[in-house]
Amino acid sequence: MPIPEEFIQELKLRSDIADVISGYVNLKKAGRNLVGLCPFHNEKTPSFSVSPENGFFHCFGCGAGGDVITFIKRIENLDYIDAVKFLAQKAGMSVPEDNKNDGLTRFRNRIYEANREAARFFHKMLYTNEGSKALEYLRGRQLSEKTIIHFGLGYSPKSRYELVNYLKSKGFTNNELIQANLANKSGRGYLFDRFSDRVMFPIMDLRGNVIAFGGRIMSDMKPKYLNTSDTPAFNKSRNLFALQFAKNKANGQLILVEGYMDVIALHQAGFENAVATLGTALTQEQATVIKRYCDEVVICYDADDAGQKATSRAISILRPTGLHIKILTVPSGKDPDEFIKSYGEQGPARFRMLLEKSGNDADFRLRKLREKYNTDITEQRVEFLTEAAKLISSFDNSIEQDIYISRLAGELEVEKNAIKQQVMRYRKKNSREYIKREQREIQNNLSARNDRINTEKAYNLRAANAEEALIALLMYNPDAAQSVFKRLLPEKFITSFNRKVYETIKKRADAGFDFSITDISGEFSNDEMSRITKLLASHPRETDPVSAANDYIAVLEDEAEKLTPEQIAYADTQMLMARLKKLKEKKK
Ligand code: UTP
Ligand code: MN
Repeated sequence: MPIPEEFIQELKLRSDIADVISGYVNLKKAGRNLVGLCPFHNEKTPSFSVSPENGFFHCFGCGAGGDVITFIKRIENLDYIDAVKFLAQKAGMSVPEDNKNDGLTRFRNRIYEANREAARFFHKMLYTNEGSKALEYLRGRQLSEKTIIHFGLGYSPKSRYELVNYLKSKGFTNNELIQANLANKSGRGYLFDRFSDRVMFPIMDLRGNVIAFGGRIMSDMKPKYLNTSDTPAFNKSRNLFALQFAKNKANGQLILVEGYMDVIALHQAGFENAVATLGTALTQEQATVIKRYCDEVVICYDADDAGQKATSRAISILRPTGLHIKILTVPSGKDPDEFIKSYGEQGPARFRMLLEKSGNDADFRLRKLREKYNTDITEQRVEFLTEAAKLISSFDNSIEQDIYISRLAGELEVEKNAIKQQVMRYRKKNSREYIKREQREIQNNLSARNDRINTEKAYNLRAANAEEALIALLMYNPDAAQSVFKRLLPEKFITSFNRKVYETIKKRADAGFDFSITDISGEFSNDEMSRITKLLASHPRETDPVSAANDYIAVLEDEAEKLTPEQIAYADTQMLMARLKKLKEKKK
């Protein structure tokens, strides 16, 4: 670990886990812990818990867990060093230099540099002879010079070797270009440009790094857009196009559109709070990012069938985050870019009007539902009302529920109370079903996870349980630990994952360092940290740690004496008889 131990200790002292996590999750007090909705999976009842006292978080639903650094690693998608820097910045500390040498971070930086050079190269190409048709194309789509520069748009030349040659002349290696997904390797083993004869849209992260590109073809050929695949520096399900601009203009609201061109047209028209996903449907992770920068999202997808489906899907992902959601439907099947353009100078004002009258998602969903029925026919009206009651019962807010119940009652001329009772009935049912479903998920997840990290546990249950109880005991009672370290060698651990944990804390203790959960996160992956946290969360503090430690050590010694299945297969009769005798004596 390149960062000095004292620095990490100081950082942890200054980074209160409850404070840090509150920046992302709405936490409520529950006894000694805080609970909230887990930011790492989709849930409706809180199973995410934070223990300020022990310095860890743990989700009983998806199994995620760890210390404050693990949390930042996960939620900000950073590696260990960057997570430390991130927290240090928050805490007003500066990280001692020379830590840039972490392998992955350094490699990522190379990819950022290659991408930056590529973006410059593409942009310059716009103003060459070869690129002039791309410039014409962009102007034809009514982008101003200022917009083209602001978004750093460009052109990738047709040849398929110019970018590779250029970047190699700048010192980038074949491996770097391939890993950055800027080049592909031919069957014969030479590199060629991934993007050819396309208008280029650079994609940036929040720190201003160029992380990827989208490239649009200028004809009707397919694919229309070619995008950078995921790379060590880019994950398409975590980033959003133009968020680096939009986050500063959000003022509480972001507009979510489908296309790069929609974003650009909107920004040019003065709606600089527009963002788009990167060629995929909205993900849970993107929803979490969005939530961090606003409290209202206006979904503004295409009016076609696919767009409407995507809208419903986005609603179901955004709703659990607590964001206020509005739906803006652009009339006459246009996308936002086409709409604005079609009104010329009036475009921005017209779009502003649409924005102002965009309804919330409840309206959208009820309208969609109603379109399926002919409510003039009694039977269908009843069916619609039943379905509508079910939908309304899923709204969290009872005032909101009441508004829609009244409106429906008025529109369909039925008793308000009749609808209300139906809604209440569904509400009860929902909550029972949610609880059941989430409990099932918790169970499945816990056992699945066990297997993944500590694969040997299932075959060594007694030993593994004692190992885990002992690890928890050591972490909770560092004072009782020294005597255990003296008496119990890591070799006595049977499952290798637990042995690694024990070795790690023992090594730290031997070197005079602390070894609580918050001290060891540099040495374990996110999943391993989750496993260790789960182990802590499921073992309460012992009232008499010394005697408990003795019990666990006894179990481990006992288990270590047992023969493995192979040993039993190969042992001679005499030896087996001797062991049997010994075991019988022990039982007495
Ligand atoms: P659209 O087809 O709506 O494109 O796809 P658009 O942004 O309106 O583009 P123009 O106006 O025709 O130029 C929406 C988004 O879906 C992704 C891109 O992110 C695009 O902006 N997409 C679409 C792809 O990644 N690949 C494709 O082949 C098509
Ligand atoms: Mn379009």
